[in-house]
Amino acid sequence: MEDPDWVMGVAERKRDHVRIVLENQSVQRGSNWLDHVHIIHRAVTDIDIDAIDTSAYFLGRRFSAPILIEGMTGGTEEAARINATLAEAAERAQIPMGVGSQRAGVQRPELQYTFRAAREAGPQVFLIANIGAAQLVQHGTQLAWQAVKMIEADAIAVHLNTLQEIIQPEGDRGFKGFLAQLKKLCGEIGVPVIVKEVGCGVSYEDAVVLRDAGVAAIDVAGRGGTSWVEIERLRAIEAGRTDRARLAEVFQEWGIPTAASVLEVKQVDGLQVVGSGGIRNGLEIAKLLVLGADIAGLAQPFLKASVQGLEEVLTLIGQLTEEVKVAAALAGVSRTSELRGAPHVLTGPLLEWTKQRIKKR
Ligand SMILES: Cc1cc2nc3c(=O)[nH]c(=O)nc-3n(C[C@H](O)[C@H](O)[C@H](O)COP(=O)(O)O)c2cc1C
Repeated sequence: MEDPDWVMGVAERKRDHVRIVLENQSVQRGSNWLDHVHIIHRAVTDIDIDAIDTSAYFLGRRFSAPILIEGMTGGTEEAARINATLAEAAERAQIPMGVGSQRAGVQRPELQYTFRAAREAGPQVFLIANIGAAQLVQHGTQLAWQAVKMIEADAIAVHLNTLQEIIQPEGDRGFKGFLAQLKKLCGEIGVPVIVKEVGCGVSYEDAVVLRDAGVAAIDVAGRGGTSWVEIERLRAIEAGRTDRARLAEVFQEWGIPTAASVLEVKQVDGLQVVGSGGIRNGLEIAKLLVLGADIAGLAQPFLKASVQGLEEVLTLIGQLTEEVKVAAALAGVSRTSELRGAPHVLTGPLLEWTKQRIKKR
């Protein structure tokens, strides 16, 4: 059992993260390289646009749109409200959603309601539990079982956030034994296991290792979206930790951009792929599908909408869905799932990356 003051610090850290993301535009750093993906326009349209099928299959379930609300929060009163709003919207719109890291909830039972709020607001919603790689190493699969049980989860995401932990003054630095624990988890937990990054993307080499460990899906969370290096840099400045702030500056550009990461991971058979990291509209979702992602994940836009209320979240889902539909129509397909491999051109650094790293194209 960890020191209760330290565990409360985890909840405060989650509060800081939400505050910093809501207050700062600049926490999204660099490009996710989707501007280097060009879907070929089809002028001849022989499709009824209103009949375009946007459904997506992910982890054995069918959803109404290829949109996933990424795991973000929990541990505070505000987080409970956010989780409830997002879950109600996700249930109504029939899309999946994740909660934020459940470490605080496992270790402080009085905080469990902040995560359970999602299940209570969305009794039928496809809900994804969330734990960190470091916690899996420290506490073993028991912690994962508790996280799943806490919210009656349909899947569990294990986040990899080495760079964030290194920059956090109070961060974890011990990850040895992770793969053995992950294999054990995949073998025993009984729900699909997703492994996700939080802003640095996932490589081909890691995707092979993760697939062999028994992981069902990878959520790339590539560079070009919410930047944890930047968030931790701002926290380090607030805390007067200039050493950590400097480290963050040096590693600001680290990571694999979202578009490149989807291409990397798609080379490995037997894995589903969530494209995420800086996805802000339905055209970007369509581009991810063209590159081979099964579904697109968004965090920051849903956080911003959730503090405005349920209607705002539903409106956002509706707009994103409409935009993917339009992209499908302009690409000449009648199902968004048919966007996979639709004619497209890659340019600039993404093309360069593809020449050196992508074999299966
Ligand atoms: C406020 C906030 C809190 C987050 N907390 C978590 C977390 O606890 N666990 C996790 O796996 N990812 C967390 N993430 C990362 C997101 O799930 C996502 O992978 C990443 O932010 C990329 O999406 P975006 O660019 O659309 O924000 C968080 C993101 C935000 C914005």
